[in-house]
Amino acid sequence: MKSFHSIPKHIAIIMDGNGRWAKTHGLPRVQGHRAGAESVREAIDACKELGVPYLTLYAFSSENWSRPEAEVSALMSLLEKFLKTKLDDLMKQNVRLQAIGQIERLPASTRKILADVMELTANNDSITLVLALSYGSREEITAAARKIAKGVQDGTWHPDEITTELFASQLDTAHIPDPDLLIRTSGEMRVSNFLLWQISYAEMVIVDKCWPDFRQGDLFAAVAEYQKRHRRFGSV
Ligand code: IPE
Ligand code: IPE
Ligand code: MG
Repeated sequence: MKSFHSIPKHIAIIMDGNGRWAKTHGLPRVQGHRAGAESVREAIDACKELGVPYLTLYAFSSENWSRPEAEVSALMSLLEKFLKTKLDDLMKQNVRLQAIGQIERLPASTRKILADVMELTANNDSITLVLALSYGSREEITAAARKIAKGVQDGTWHPDEITTELFASQLDTAHIPDPDLLIRTSGEMRVSNFLLWQISYAEMVIVDKCWPDFRQGDLFAAVAEYQKRHRRFGSV
């Protein structure tokens, strides 16, 4: 068994398979999304128990806007409900909430509650929960390129000063360490526009279960798998 040093500093999860879970149970897709809320709690608890300081959850992608309007609005309502009903828990669990993605695209009511919860939890320090909402990595990278281009245009930077560090500082994740471990549920082996820059050296663990069936034990198993990997970062 490895030492505590190999506990990941940041776990990112692509919470996939809610629709298929619902289908298996003969339920409408939205019930799958609803059932997934319990798994979020399990993932937070497991990370807290292990001492993982950052957990990022992919909750809604840029591409998910193209789903039927009824599903999109159900997802936004569920998100609002989650934020309202979990605020007490987040405070008790000492969780700081942050968000990445094109938050401005969310409905005003969702933005309001999100901003409130982020403000109220800003000084909590046991774990940072980052929700990726209306998030797409290509959009994020393009926005960073745009900011840097403007900075060059107005004389803030010289083109030779554009390093990987400067670029990373213009991403939504500027103050968040890169994920060490990327988990995707439902057996799909793809990244779907999630943290493309940041996962360059993340270890990937694919879990066959659908997200609503994900429990603490599944996160512990993924971390155990991560601890068996030999990370080389391009070196020998
Ligand atoms: C993940 O589950 C949740 C979101 C993308 C919002 P899906 O809704 O993608 O479920 P499947 O993949 O269709 O089963
Ligand atoms: C990725 O899942 C996005 C989230 C989990 C929020 P999708 O279900 O949207 O991705 P694809 O369509 O399978 O690639
Ligand atoms: Mg899916």
